[in-house]
Amino acid sequence: AITLDPAAKGAAIADTMYGVFFEDINRAADGGLYAELVQNRSFEYSTADNAAYTPLTSWTVDGTAEVADDAGRLNERNRTYLKLGAGSSVTNAGYNTGIRVEQGKRYDFSVWARAGSGTTLTVGLKDAAGPLATARQVAAKGDWRKYTASFTATRTSNRGRFTVAATAATALDMVSLFPRDTYKHQPGGLRKDLAEKIEALRPGFVRFPGGCLVNTGSMADYSAASGYQRKRAYQWKDTVGPVEERATNANFWGYNQSYGLGYYEYFRFAEDIGAMPLPVVPALVTGCGQNKAVDDEALLKRHIQDTLDLIEFANGPATSTWGKVRARMGHPKPFGLTHLEVGNEENLPREFYARFEKFRAAIEAEHPDITVISNSGPDDSGTVFDTAWQLNREGGVDMVDEHYYNSPQWFLQNNDRYDSYDRQGPKVFLGEYASQGNAWKNGLAEAAYMTGLERNADVVKLASYAPLLANEDYVQWRPDLIWFNNRASWNSANYEVQKLFMTNTGDRVVPSTATTTPAVSGPITGAVGLSTWATSAAYDDVKVTSADGATLLSDDFSGDAAQWTHRGAGAWTVRDGQYLQTDEAAENTLVTAGDPAWKNYDLHVKATKKSGK
Ligand code: AHR
Repeated sequence: AITLDPAAKGAAIADTMYGVFFEDINRAADGGLYAELVQNRSFEYSTADNAAYTPLTSWTVDGTAEVADDAGRLNERNRTYLKLGAGSSVTNAGYNTGIRVEQGKRYDFSVWARAGSGTTLTVGLKDAAGPLATARQVAAKGDWRKYTASFTATRTSNRGRFTVAATAATALDMVSLFPRDTYKHQPGGLRKDLAEKIEALRPGFVRFPGGCLVNTGSMADYSAASGYQRKRAYQWKDTVGPVEERATNANFWGYNQSYGLGYYEYFRFAEDIGAMPLPVVPALVTGCGQNKAVDDEALLKRHIQDTLDLIEFANGPATSTWGKVRARMGHPKPFGLTHLEVGNEENLPREFYARFEKFRAAIEAEHPDITVISNSGPDDSGTVFDTAWQLNREGGVDMVDEHYYNSPQWFLQNNDRYDSYDRQGPKVFLGEYASQGNAWKNGLAEAAYMTGLERNADVVKLASYAPLLANEDYVQWRPDLIWFNNRASWNSANYEVQKLFMTNTGDRVVPSTATTTPAVSGPITGAVGLSTWATSAAYDDVKVTSADGATLLSDDFSGDAAQWTHRGAGAWTVRDGQYLQTDEAAENTLVTAGDPAWKNYDLHVKATKKSGK
């Protein structure tokens, strides 16, 4: 029986408590929320992004064409372009099965081209069954210029191909095709079904742009001085201004990101859905298996200044340096930034905190009204977590971000996690959490857990499930909240739970007591979960959990690695997210995906001889 005490005053629940966390993982941006239909539109794909890429990935050539990286480029930040031979054409295959068009809908094409006078560009959409729209012709001449055309699709197809043909030698860049029907009809905007699914949650905040995307790779900028660094941490200035001037980047998750969905678009989307924007900036300590503290005072100062500039971009008057950039992009009014996070899951708590304090001091000196959020490491327990929390507590930090991905049993058994948190200490931002799966039982376990978050709404101020989006053909991480491909999107059970809480947020907790506690089913005997950051050459941060989520073993390899020497010969192979039937001898056969990039692997092993490592 449950007894309510309506007279007693429980914690107040803020409207912003439940939000979403958007990271460009699983092709959540390009090939996802960003509605661009052409893949690799600026020929910038590179083996630095992914060993399988070339600058012509997703393109086929009929005739002659060559990708150039020379002084004839469109601009300094968009370095490669296509030299298409006379009488030749290039065709783009889009994402998933191809370019999706719907009968009767409009599609807008644009391209930057440099051509001799009298050159005609013919642009067309087709699939194996024939044309999907009447082809358009564009007369091109002279130095780099933007040309546009639009189509009405005559048939619906999920397998469209988009072709540009030229009568004479032509230089091409930024070959783009957008549906006219984007979210809120914004040109070059967001894919409607996905944006509307996020909007339907009525999230209190949007945390962006990552995740591991933020604090991995080089902290250098994209310039001649840094050798046009391709594996850069997410730096907001790369992502604003005209799209053709946004230097693409190698994504931590193994693909290229165009930054067509950048900081301006994130802020605008947050505003459009009535959510508080919550950006995350890198703190010059890499995480997610990279775990390096960058010791470079000048670079640190530059990043701190970039963060102050970001606040000006969001909140400054349209006459200020960065407010002007925002105004020119179409939003003279400030976006009203109130919260900002520094860092993500740093594994080196002391090094992180020393840098965090400098960011915080600089931000608070100029913007005392902004809440600066700190971090607690990649896990919800252990030395890193304890040290990070101690430093944050001693430093009087306002709010600390926690992340955890555990079994549904763990979520059921840890409903009381925040009951014992210090009421005088920093508040909690549960920036990433999920039970391992998209099944009904996972949604249920998360719902049960969220009642514990809510009961502790005086301590837990913000919470977001992670990750938000996954394109089913490009998955780096599962489970995810919303799934999609090039033609459809669908919600998980976990989404329905988030929606239930986000669209029914109360004002205040009504204290209650239960006289019986429902039974919680026990762990699956012998099942263990292994999560590890690994590359084909190395591994790091290995953790083994029992099926009920308890940590059995963990090692960040800062010291003795002997206990992890794997037995089978050859390389590690990792089958991400699969349940393997294995015996003791086979227990360490983790895979090598042949991928040199650090990745987080999740492996569930059903041990037949013993549980544990
Ligand atoms: O949500 C997926 C990843 O999980 C995030 O990028 C990272 O912060 C965490 O490890």
